Amino acid sequence: MKATINNSLTHYIDIGISTAMPVILIHGFPFSHKMWMMPGGQTEALAGTYHVIAYDVRGHGESEVGDGMYSIEFFADDLIGLMDHLNIQQAVVLGLSMGGYIALRAIQKNPERFKALVLCNTRAEADSNESKIKRAGAIRAIKTNGPKIFAQEMVKNLFAPASLETKQSAVKLIESTIERTAPLSLCGTELALASRTDSTPSLSSIKVPTLVMTGELDITVPPDASKAMKDAIPNSEFFVIPKAAHLSNMENADEFNKHLVEFFQKIA
Ligand code: MLT
Repeated sequence: MKATINNSLTHYIDIGISTAMPVILIHGFPFSHKMWMMPGGQTEALAGTYHVIAYDVRGHGESEVGDGMYSIEFFADDLIGLMDHLNIQQAVVLGLSMGGYIALRAIQKNPERFKALVLCNTRAEADSNESKIKRAGAIRAIKTNGPKIFAQEMVKNLFAPASLETKQSAVKLIESTIERTAPLSLCGTELALASRTDSTPSLSSIKVPTLVMTGELDITVPPDASKAMKDAIPNSEFFVIPKAAHLSNMENADEFNKHLVEFFQKIA
């Protein structure tokens, strides 16, 4: 489905039980809603019980690329804009990595729109100087070599070494999603990520139940960063997903979904 949200055509899926608790899934960079839709994935695990919405962040998947002038601030406003469009007053919001940055900024601005929060493979801090310089290098590489080579290089760091062998359909899906993302969006999102605000000071104000999960082998956001974030959120729980790196929901969907479903049963 498509809707114009803050002047940008946004693609989303809206499945499950429309009268049940709404759950909104926000993908990481530079992926799409399809990362939740693998066989045995999160849409499959949740749609029988909940109202599930998974959308493509501006510039990603099938959503409009626009002018490439992005900010996590705009992405957070788009989340609330989509909720307004769907007449959803309150939802459980689940964000992975960039999706977590978006959720964290959105809950600071609109805490009343959140019933609960799930933060996966993500962190609260803004980029360090080292990360900002790395992002400049990534932009240079995208401009010089194009998205295909960028995608080939990126997947090597996203998945655990064993997942690269055993989860080939997930690896192919992610690689082709990155490769198909417009260079303008890849570069614009890198700048948005580099300029995001630090959510750390606001963690202690999060009032809703929060589930934090990460992959034991995540090198993009090391588990310590997720644990530090969990420790600062009052009503939170934390699980490390074994045999998984940055895409823990795809690399070990069974374990990921088990914690997700248990958490949802507690809060519903
Ligand atoms: C993501 O998966 O969204 C990215 O790793 C986020 C980032 O680059 O900080």
